[in-house]
Amino acid sequence: MDRKDFIKGSCGICIALSSGFLMSALLDSCKTPLGVIKTQSQDGVVTIPTVEFDKDNYKIVRVHNYNYDLAVQKKPDGTYLALVLMCTHAGQPLVKTGNSYYCALHGSQFDHEGHVTKGPAQDNLIHLQTQITKDQLSIQLKKTS
Ligand code: FES
Repeated sequence: MDRKDFIKGSCGICIALSSGFLMSALLDSCKTPLGVIKTQSQDGVVTIPTVEFDKDNYKIVRVHNYNYDLAVQKKPDGTYLALVLMCTHAGQPLVKTGNSYYCALHGSQFDHEGHVTKGPAQDNLIHLQTQITKDQLSIQLKKTS
């Protein structure tokens, strides 16, 4: 093997290895982030196995064809709190920041139970009705506009 063939062969191996590494990294980035449950509703109800809350009592629930994520918390007394992460000022999706929610559009803030802590929003976040049946949590969705 002469020097030219050696360099061509080595470059081919490097390209193949790096493209495999890149594909692996790209596929990893497509996975659902930890703490996020992707699901869909049926007749306006989302159903989630309660086992999802065994290790972590807080989940973001992303419902197919619903405009906003839900923040779902299992409380110490075993009940659940489900909030629509929609700013009540002008409908902007909210961002979780530590133990609260922030609206990047005009700066409203809400605490972990959905109460307004800083305006201009004046109304608390929408609470959704929850129900436990056997080992399933059901969340009744509301139209958000
Ligand atoms: S839309 Fe959230 S503060 Fe205005």
